[in-house]
Amino acid sequence: MNAVVQFEQDFSNIIEAIAGPGIGIFPHFIDAGLAAALRHDLATLPPEELTPAAIGREQHQQTNERIRSDKTRWIEGDTPVQRYYLALMTSLKQALNRQLFMGLKDYECHYALYQAGDFYKKHLDAFRGRSNRRLTTVLYLNDDWQASDGGELLVYPLQSKTVLHRVTPEAGTLVCFLSEDFPHEVLPAARDRASIAGWFRIDDPIAPSLQLSPT
Ligand code: OGA
Ligand code: MN
Repeated sequence: MNAVVQFEQDFSNIIEAIAGPGIGIFPHFIDAGLAAALRHDLATLPPEELTPAAIGREQHQQTNERIRSDKTRWIEGDTPVQRYYLALMTSLKQALNRQLFMGLKDYECHYALYQAGDFYKKHLDAFRGRSNRRLTTVLYLNDDWQASDGGELLVYPLQSKTVLHRVTPEAGTLVCFLSEDFPHEVLPAARDRASIAGWFRIDDPIAPSLQLSPT
């Protein structure tokens, strides 16, 4: 795989979802072969490189196993499949910036491995005016996920405790949402659960999140 890839991928469904409700769930965002290659890439990492995930403000990272118990590893482009995924996200970023003027600058992402019983309690990925994280992506890598495996992602509206979306972490499914607007949690699973969580960031944390029409 080459670092300079032209993607045929059509991002219009994602653009529509972000411009509308601010969230979308996209089964088969990537195909089974790419999901398997990413899963294999994660599985072949030296185990000591997967470390307890940090929470909190960007400068004051701390681990807190009462809030989350998964292990993560940043994706920096060390392998061809990592570079391919980063390039795919760059082309999504360009589409979002072109069509929604979101001003997204960079993208950071990590593998996350939840072993049986691991969880991530209800949280927001970004607080308005205090974070550069603007748009969250979560991509799942798990083959043949069953309802009895648990591990769903529950997504809530900002002001309510009613579940808005319940997402099965099946290989190829992408979830994409405005980072400041959707509290969410990961329920404990009965088997290993792999994902790639990522964030498109902006330069200025107090800029408005979407500029759909001139004021
Ligand atoms: C996160 C997160 C959800 C998931 O890493 O912030 O909410 O389903 N991940 O892996
Ligand atoms: Mn999150």
